[in-house]
Amino acid sequence: MTAATAPSAAPDADTAIITARDVTKVYKQGKVEVLALRGVDLDVGQGEFVVLAGPSGSGKSTLLNLIGALDHPTEGSILVAGREITHLSRSVAARFRLTSLGFVFQAYNLVPVLTCYENAEYTLALAGVPRTERRRLVVPLLERVGLGDMLTRKPHELSGGQQQRIAVVRAIASRPALVLADEPTANLDSETSGNLLDLMLELNAEHGTTFVFASHDPDLIARARRVVRLKDGRIDGDERR
Ligand SMILES: Nc1ncnc2c1ncn2[C@@H]1O[C@H](COP(=O)(O)OP(=O)(O)OP(=O)(O)O)[C@@H](O)[C@H]1O
Ligand SMILES: [Mg+2]
Repeated sequence: MTAATAPSAAPDADTAIITARDVTKVYKQGKVEVLALRGVDLDVGQGEFVVLAGPSGSGKSTLLNLIGALDHPTEGSILVAGREITHLSRSVAARFRLTSLGFVFQAYNLVPVLTCYENAEYTLALAGVPRTERRRLVVPLLERVGLGDMLTRKPHELSGGQQQRIAVVRAIASRPALVLADEPTANLDSETSGNLLDLMLELNAEHGTTFVFASHDPDLIARARRVVRLKDGRIDGDERR
């Protein structure tokens, strides 16, 4: 596709960062099978700011987890930045997540014995980024989300919303091309959540970072430039603004 025919949503929206084809996910619970995704096709271009919306249980987290190579689809294929990630081994998947994307989990997944700052720099440290560089990247982001005076607190000394903001900083600190975030604003008051969204929109505009969220948050949905609606494991709507 040439630049002249590219969609106007983002400068590089014709360059695919996610290509999901006929993705099915069946969870087995003993003899019971839960059909969480039923043949999902999704294309996301570089630089898009997309929210996956839809009722509880519609498959939003399942789809994010598959795109983030945290789990394998039962059928279908997923390419991220042109790379087939459907059947990566555990260790290759872990390496892929570390180098290619940021992931904000619905349950934050902070390390309880590490401080706020150490949690936020965790993936940079794993990636071998030197200490001074980590500080330069992480501290301004923590200040930006209102955690500048809480750097030495442990997760249990912080509120759910504060922990959630650390998880967001951890995901964006390395400036990955793709950030996947599961309900990143679910526990935040509207001002804090607005600030966090401002930050993510800024990264989107300035660095072309692609964001894909799963969210029920009307404020987030209102500010997304594309809303993909899931219902019963299928895509039920795809609106670009
Ligand atoms: N590990 C699992 N084992 C069995 N069933 C699961 C598992 N994870 C999710 N499910 C089921 O798959 C379906 C989709 O779940 P999913 O977590 O993707 O929904 P969701 O849209 O993220 O919901 P919410 O808005 O509540 O976070 C649901 O029926 C859920 O019960
Ligand atoms: Mg979910």
